[in-house]
Amino acid sequence: MSDLDQLKSDLVAAINAATSLDMLEEVRLHALGKKGVISAQLKTLGSLEPDQRKQVGQDVNTLKEDITQLIADRHTDLSAAAMKAKLSDEALDVSLPARPSLGDGRMHPLSRTIEEITAIFADMGFAIAEGPDIETDFYNFTALNIPPEHPARQEHDTFYLTPDETGTRPVLRTHTSPVQVRTMMKQDPPVRIIVPGRTYRSDHDATHSPMFHQCEGLVIGDGIHMGHLKGCLIDFCRSFFGVDDLPVRFRPSFFPFTEPSAEVDIGCSREGGGLKIGAGDDWLEILGSGMVHPKVLANCGYDPEKVQGFAFGMGVERLAMLKYGIPDLRTFYDTDLRWLKHYGFVPVDVPALHTGLHDGAAS
Ligand code: DAH
Repeated sequence: MSDLDQLKSDLVAAINAATSLDMLEEVRLHALGKKGVISAQLKTLGSLEPDQRKQVGQDVNTLKEDITQLIADRHTDLSAAAMKAKLSDEALDVSLPARPSLGDGRMHPLSRTIEEITAIFADMGFAIAEGPDIETDFYNFTALNIPPEHPARQEHDTFYLTPDETGTRPVLRTHTSPVQVRTMMKQDPPVRIIVPGRTYRSDHDATHSPMFHQCEGLVIGDGIHMGHLKGCLIDFCRSFFGVDDLPVRFRPSFFPFTEPSAEVDIGCSREGGGLKIGAGDDWLEILGSGMVHPKVLANCGYDPEKVQGFAFGMGVERLAMLKYGIPDLRTFYDTDLRWLKHYGFVPVDVPALHTGLHDGAAS
């Protein structure tokens, strides 16, 4: 075997023995690098006779091409193998069961109640609207016909934030009613919205929390009257509490942003210390409502001579406490897992809501 043949078979063996890209790179440098063995062969050509030089030169070049090709092929194979190993190393086993100690999640009763309320109104053709928690005095009070010095401002126990450069104090919204104003200022009638959201008042006991939730409703259009308000809210109450013949009463009341205003009560019994909804001859207040005040319509750029509407607002915590028998409002925010296991909902229940809770909801 000639020296070149020997060299070739050594290099081929080294290439085949390389089991990683790093090892192969070492072989490449050893064979083809500037100080490698093939370069060394080329350097010897100068000392050969001219006719020998030609032949040996060709042979060394052929060797160089062969080795270059073999290294390239081996490189392709090793890269593919490395990728395969990486993929199988990093593969995620999606069939791995969850750790049992984590337990199942539960849907918070407040989320569930908001889902229920909005689903019932969605079935009646209401769209969901939202607004910011930090409001201006204009949206929270003034546009709703609660001017400065109006006693309703004191009743709201407002949280004020630090005044800005112009001296105006932003407020944490005390109700979801400002979203009525925001919607009317943005959109021409007709309007049919339901507004779930967080609200804030400086108050804390078993039935009040400084942060709580409300759901606001607003319907504006041609010829909307008190009969629409009554029909809509009676349907809602019956659907929400799941009692077909639930007695519903509209009691005259006052809100600066509605005229006339009515508080809505549902029939209940308090006999024997327990509360039963739908039975007995007692009443339980559950929401506020009324025909939107002409001044509010005008403040929002609507012509009160042309359009009317009704609005209503309800406390989500109160509705959840009544429906699910939760005695203390503060427990909603205690993040106690034992409480959530008891009062929470298995999320699998939720899809059923999209078809409506109750036949009455769609009528
Ligand atoms: N914003 C009222 C409150 O927080 C609730 C309310 C009453 C909203 C009557 C309304 C309404 O839209 O018409 O007490």
